[in-house]
Amino acid sequence: MELQEKEKKIVEVIRALKKVNYPGYSRDIISFGFLKKIDLDDNFELFLDLEVSTGKEEVVKEIEEKVRQALSEIKWINKLNLSVRKKEVFTRQKIPIKGKAIAIYSTKGGVGKSTIAVNLAYTLHLLGLKTSLLDLDVHGPSIPKMTATIDYEPYSPDGKSIMPAEKNGVKIMSLGYMAKGDTAVVWRGPMVIKAFRTLLFSTLWPDTEILVIDLPPGSGDVQLSLAQEAKIDSIVMITTPQEVALEDVRRGISMFRKLGVPIAGIIENMSYFECECGRKHYIFGKGGGEKLAKEYGIEVIGQIPIDPLLMSYSDTGNIFVLQNSESKTKEAFFQIAGKILEKLNIKTH
Ligand SMILES: Nc1ncnc2c1ncn2[C@@H]1O[C@H](COP(=O)(O)OP(=O)(O)O)[C@@H](O)[C@H]1O
Ligand SMILES: [Mg+2]
Repeated sequence: MELQEKEKKIVEVIRALKKVNYPGYSRDIISFGFLKKIDLDDNFELFLDLEVSTGKEEVVKEIEEKVRQALSEIKWINKLNLSVRKKEVFTRQKIPIKGKAIAIYSTKGGVGKSTIAVNLAYTLHLLGLKTSLLDLDVHGPSIPKMTATIDYEPYSPDGKSIMPAEKNGVKIMSLGYMAKGDTAVVWRGPMVIKAFRTLLFSTLWPDTEILVIDLPPGSGDVQLSLAQEAKIDSIVMITTPQEVALEDVRRGISMFRKLGVPIAGIIENMSYFECECGRKHYIFGKGGGEKLAKEYGIEVIGQIPIDPLLMSYSDTGNIFVLQNSESKTKEAFFQIAGKILEKLNIKTH
């Protein structure tokens, strides 16, 4: 078949499809953009793929029938290969808080995601905001340990919702409270998603002005379904300065961009080590975060130095930013918190 003839025939098919309206609407299925693929082979066999935005199977069936009917009038079609599918429509559900939710994310574990989530939450609390912290890291819910709340037993005051823990003014909920012990084995696949839903949508923290979420690392199904189900206002990406770490971050960025979740910025952790003489040593290299930021138009909102004190606080269940001494590390947390509030358009009291 000549190309011109093929084109003519395809136009004829599209014209016929334009007579098929979306059930209950006066607009046709073509102008709704449901046609995904159309092709015709030399034997006049027609291939059609339609993807319909609907939650209802009946609508899909009705459209399929109407399409068959409309095309039965075109006599030259030898065979019709028709596929009408339901397009996955996900509606994001609001997390039951008064304010906004920000998720801390990294593609790899061990980059300091949880340490940052905890200290960022407490910095926001120190700035006067009603702050809550949600640990959704299935691979290792470490926040109960980092905040010394591991013994907390969640309970329900009404048979539906769950009471979060509270430590030094911050409300905390974690997968680690639900399944103590070997969680990595217990939390798999659909169970994980179910647990996420419970923690996100049934925890009692209505007056929260800012919710900090520690996301599981990686760019798999778990992260995907989470970002599709819950309305997260912004993401903060954590990276270390090495080139290999940055490569992972690129994957993370493109995942959230595809999902339409805004990225507030990148935090470079373990950026440098400052020795007693005051010199900064860039142990893992320098400028990686900046490079990434330029590449994607995302700002580096902070650089946290390698700080043995930060580590020993986290690892012993003490909260670093709550201690009195001043340091570059503490300063970095305040700078980051300020930037996040600015990006989320949240005013402190
Ligand atoms: N800036 C830092 N300086 C020193 N140690 C850090 C720093 N950030 C994180 N750590 C330590 O690194 C380890 C991993 O951090 P963690 O927050 O558990 O990472 P993740 O949640 O990404 O797996 C912890 O022992 C933590 O105390
Ligand atoms: Mg962690």
